[in-house]
Amino acid sequence: MTTGVNGTKVIGFGHYQPSKVLTNEDLAKMVDTNDEWIVSRVGIKERRIAEHESVADMATAAAEMALSKSGLTAEDIDIVVVATCSAIDRVPNVASTVAARLGVASPAAMDVNTACSGFSHAVAVADHAIRAGSATKAVVVGVEKLSDFTDWTDRSTAVLFGDGAGAVVLTGVEDGEEPGVGPVVWGSVPEMSTAVRITAEDPHIKQDGQSVFRWATTTLAPLARKTAEAADVKIEDVGAVVFHQANLRIIEGIAKRLGADNAVIAKDIVGSGNTSAASVPLALSKMIEAGEVPSGAPILLFAFGGGLTYAGQIIRCP
Ligand SMILES: CC(C)(COP(=O)(O)OP(=O)(O)OC[C@H]1O[C@@H](n2cnc3c(N)ncnc32)[C@H](O)[C@@H]1OP(=O)(O)O)[C@@H](O)C(=O)NCCC(=O)NCCS
Repeated sequence: MTTGVNGTKVIGFGHYQPSKVLTNEDLAKMVDTNDEWIVSRVGIKERRIAEHESVADMATAAAEMALSKSGLTAEDIDIVVVATCSAIDRVPNVASTVAARLGVASPAAMDVNTACSGFSHAVAVADHAIRAGSATKAVVVGVEKLSDFTDWTDRSTAVLFGDGAGAVVLTGVEDGEEPGVGPVVWGSVPEMSTAVRITAEDPHIKQDGQSVFRWATTTLAPLARKTAEAADVKIEDVGAVVFHQANLRIIEGIAKRLGADNAVIAKDIVGSGNTSAASVPLALSKMIEAGEVPSGAPILLFAFGGGLTYAGQIIRCP
């Protein structure tokens, strides 16, 4: 039997966004849409598109930043978990490429595909592995290049998505130290399994927007509350909330129902669009970099997406 530790904590955050900006005005020249519709229905002003970067390029850049902020080096890492649904190659997985480029010697290296909720799933996989004693230090990435799977002639989806990556480094807590990563609350809705899809028959992202919107606005607030309770954190003590950045109306609606009145609410969607598995770690890393979250404050993460899958946990700001 291997023995692990009592919990894990996040010690480094990183992110990467491509330099190409695609504004609502740019999109209005490509499809029959306009800034007013996009801003009022979804809240997006612009998004970043990867012209030259691959999924692995963006994942590696975000991981490098997280690693350098953590004070660790590649030699310390023994597990790499990458959440993505937009890798073009089936093999090798993105995690193996990221590990090779970082120079990690012999890590467990795996991809997790739960679409937009992937990052919290990946954090849970790494947290569980470290607590079980199967690993000691993890790089966890959420990365997406949905522009490869976007139908640029379909206005109902072309305006929604963007590319990017976010990453964290996890390590075990010391004896007697409180865990900095709370229990995961995760699950899925099998009867809505095709509500968000990229299929072999039509390799473009499609969704039943209204039914997902209804599900999200009625279901997510209680799940987010359960996530805080699982970590023994009161909603009024939450310092920041990072929901999946799919629609500003959903984010603001859930935040209001949740009553996290003292928390900073991530609204990275305005400048980044919906970056699927990257949306939570990207918004999170930018918030930390901007100094928007007080040290030690609980941060509530919660995401949902294709599958229909969902997952979230509380993490503590270092
Ligand atoms: C996708 C979403 C923004 C669409 O907003 P909506 O208010 O439901 O809009 P609808 O699809 O009902 O379309 C309303 C009208 O706007 C039109 N429309 C759609 N996209 C448009 C665009 N980009 N510009 C202008 N008009 C558009 C539609 O054709 C429709 O026109 P009609 O009434 O003449 O038929 C919204 O449903 C949503 O965010 N759903 C949740 C998505 C989500 O969270 N996914 C998670 C997994 S990533």
